[in-house]
Amino acid sequence: MNTPRIIVAIDGFSSSGKSTMARRLAAAVGYRYIDSGAMYRAVALYGLDNGIVDINGNVDTPRLITALKDITIDFALQPSGRQHTMLNGKDVEEAIRQLRVSNVVSQVAAIPKVRHALVAKQQALGADRGIVMDGRDIGTTVFPDAELKIFVDASAQTRAQRRLSELLAAGSQVTFAEVLANVVHRDEIDRTRTESPLRRADDAISLDNSEMTIEQQDAWLIEQFNNAIARLQH
Ligand code: DC
Repeated sequence: MNTPRIIVAIDGFSSSGKSTMARRLAAAVGYRYIDSGAMYRAVALYGLDNGIVDINGNVDTPRLITALKDITIDFALQPSGRQHTMLNGKDVEEAIRQLRVSNVVSQVAAIPKVRHALVAKQQALGADRGIVMDGRDIGTTVFPDAELKIFVDASAQTRAQRRLSELLAAGSQVTFAEVLANVVHRDEIDRTRTESPLRRADDAISLDNSEMTIEQQDAWLIEQFNNAIARLQH
């Protein structure tokens, strides 16, 4: 019997380390990895660059909804094995990670029509299964039938410290206080929005990785993955 190919949904708060976990699991098991947050970030970047979203997160919603038909998002596999987010054919991987985008992306992601468009795209990407996708609503809305659902959490302080290290390594000049404020603010918007708020699916396995190394996280996740496959084979 062939090994079944499953959908792995990894949800959690911002900077909880879910992208790292998801990417490394996908590489280890030969699945495709999709960072759904990158898609919301790309839409936010498009809005900022076209005067539809301002730096304070005020969105001209009707204009953004009309613009959705002009926005194409793809992922391009790099020789390094990483995937870069492409917005209308342009590599925006670096641009979408900047604080300028982080500061407004939750407002963009709260708009129901933006979510509907991106959820449809995410579902199409997972149609053949064999995918690891991370985000906020993957286990609840995008793939409620995912065979393995993980909900990752870590303290806001730990998450802000992780995001700060990434931003500093990328050359951004930001302080811990700015990053912490952004993390806390985004948690609040993500958790309280009406459309698909961030919530643990009832059948998700929780993980608090505040005190875990990346290697410990990898080992834990591979074990969950193998258990999910074994469940299907019985
Ligand atoms: O994971 P991230 O920080 O790159 O996500 C960016 C934003 O997009 C975040 O504010 C929440 C939102 N998001 C979402 O609403 N649903 C998803 N599936 C993924 C991200």
